[in-house]
Amino acid sequence: MATSVERFDQKARQTFESFGRTEVFPGELRRHLVYTRFLHWMVALFFFLALFSGFGIYLPWLFRWFTPIFGGGPLARALHPWFGLAFVAFFGLQVLNWLTPMKWTPADSRWIRNIRNAVTGAEKLEPPDTGFFNAGQKVQFWEILIGSVVYLITGIVLWMGADTFGRVTVAASYVLHDISALIMLGGIFVHIYLSTIGEPGTFQSMTRGAVSEAWAWTFHPAWYKEVTGRDPRQAHEEALRRLKSRKRSD
Ligand code: HEM
Repeated sequence: MATSVERFDQKARQTFESFGRTEVFPGELRRHLVYTRFLHWMVALFFFLALFSGFGIYLPWLFRWFTPIFGGGPLARALHPWFGLAFVAFFGLQVLNWLTPMKWTPADSRWIRNIRNAVTGAEKLEPPDTGFFNAGQKVQFWEILIGSVVYLITGIVLWMGADTFGRVTVAASYVLHDISALIMLGGIFVHIYLSTIGEPGTFQSMTRGAVSEAWAWTFHPAWYKEVTGRDPRQAHEEALRRLKSRKRSD
């Protein structure tokens, strides 16, 4: 029986799919629906708005040049908590949307133990049991979730100020708020690199919503097998053979 969260997500996915399109051409697989893409880009937009307005407040002597974008220092200070709240709200919806594919599995623990392969690129293909998201993506997702909770609690303390919460709580909140921002920012740099040039073919999953089959059997072999019923290693070898014979005939 579908839970209320599943019913909510199902309804949202259907509604958003009627506003946009997810075109899947031959040789491609559907990866992210319109609803997922919409939430992802709203999260990214408000993350960067909160980040840039926050930089102006955090290090004004270094990032003063950011504040005119928001209409000056006082306005940046006033808008920053609202950007943060919008970021947390959209990410909260994405959490509900991605709860199932982000569940930790024994395959993820194996992936972490062999993380050296992923980092050095020693293996051309990800391990055969890598599903819709790999363990690295899941770690980042849960880090953003924990970070968002920290932002929310400490952000409210900073918003209300020392009159409501006292000076010690406010001082501790500053430290936690900024540490959380720095950790998340570091992760986002890696994320942007991997989603664009690090793993070519990934970016279109969040724009058009579709990926090539070759991308799927390379980076998410277990998901490839699940949706096509075909063996990812075999598909890869066949593609290599076809490529070689085409080169020979050229
Ligand atoms: C301009 C910057 C960004 C780009 C180009 C980008 C790109 C992408 C792409 C292509 C995916 C899909 C990966 C896949 O299907 O395997 C993705 C997933 C994701 N994005 Fe972003 N993203 C950006 C910014 C952000 C920001 C700011 C956040 C949150 C603060 C974020 C959070 C996530 C999460 C949690 C996922 C799912 C797990 C993962 O793939 O790591 N992204 N992103």
